[in-house]
Amino acid sequence: MTTRRLVLSRSAALVGAASSGLLLPQIARAQSSKIRVGLMLPYTGTFAQLGVAIENGFRMALDEQGGKLGGREIEFFKVDDESNPAKGVENASTLVQRDKVDVLVGTVHSGVQMGIQKVARDSGVLSLIPNAGAHAATRALCAPNVFRTSFTNAQPTLALGKPMMDKGLKKTVWITWKYAAGDEAFEGFRDGYTKAGGTIVKELSLPFPNVEFQALLTEIASLKPDAVACFFAGGGAAKFIRDYAAAGLKGKIPLYGSGFLTEGVLEAAGPAADGIVTTLHYSDSLDTPRNRAFRLAYAKHFKVQPDVYAVQGYDTGLLLAQGVAAVKGDIGNKPALYKALETTTIDSPRGKWKMSPQHNPVQDIYLRVVENKENKVVGVAAKALADPGTGCRMAG
Ligand code: BEZ
Repeated sequence: MTTRRLVLSRSAALVGAASSGLLLPQIARAQSSKIRVGLMLPYTGTFAQLGVAIENGFRMALDEQGGKLGGREIEFFKVDDESNPAKGVENASTLVQRDKVDVLVGTVHSGVQMGIQKVARDSGVLSLIPNAGAHAATRALCAPNVFRTSFTNAQPTLALGKPMMDKGLKKTVWITWKYAAGDEAFEGFRDGYTKAGGTIVKELSLPFPNVEFQALLTEIASLKPDAVACFFAGGGAAKFIRDYAAAGLKGKIPLYGSGFLTEGVLEAAGPAADGIVTTLHYSDSLDTPRNRAFRLAYAKHFKVQPDVYAVQGYDTGLLLAQGVAAVKGDIGNKPALYKALETTTIDSPRGKWKMSPQHNPVQDIYLRVVENKENKVVGVAAKALADPGTGCRMAG
């Protein structure tokens, strides 16, 4: 009865508004207005190239849909988040409150992602994560409006320890940047490697985004482990690979890593990268028609080779396009939109994947080795790996 009264009184108000001419522009706006997409990515600093690759891939997927979402034009709003966690909330709020975006796409850095997560949870705006692997986003702080198209930080490294032990590398030094992504990549590595029987002899770290590796490389040389495993990415990863070789460690102590170590850096790292073994949810050399077609189209359009970041951006575009198509452009129909995002299959260059119940990809993890500036796939290190999503309570 209450509901009916409410409906009736709303109807009366609508009739009144329509007859006064107030409503018509609103209806017209809802049906024909542009979908507002906010891109919050790093365009400066050590992760700048990652932000550009994500945007390229994202736009490429939308261009393939005729540049529209569910039949509606798209308007873009952009913020350079500088991979600066201190400005995460402020930057995300700018896109949500000032620019009134319908969907927020970002970001790369796990610390910045925590700012976006707060704004997404407070505002309810649709949030698509095209890289940052911060566990909390799809674990304890998961939310119905937050979907990740990339990975959790522990996903790639969980599969790294077993192939190392298969090579008889029983004692390893771990090295990383000291922040959430490095710490969580370590968690995955530790769990997989120690389960396979390996021993981590030392954990080394330096603050993000420092690249003064010399003292730590000297310490590694004196520790004489069987292997080194690490998490670095972007410009810092290229420098770490070059410094590792320059310190005389290449060829003496095998270097392993979360696959980001060798993504988008192979030109810059040169021969110093040859032989590095990594695990990741993508590999340049995946020999499928889908991957070949994607790589060809991307290289033709952007005049650079794609990497995992471009793939994640592309998949974010596919996810959004498929979700908005399912609700015929009515992005305000949240239950139907979220249902579509939860159930759709992404036909990705990395292989087909779907969302876990906590909104993180369930995906294969590949074992790769660098040969002649390419991440060559050697095998599948983990099949259909899902993050456990520990602590996620999806409040409706
Ligand atoms: C992160 O901060 O979550 C991250 C950054 C670069 C590559 C992978 C993960």
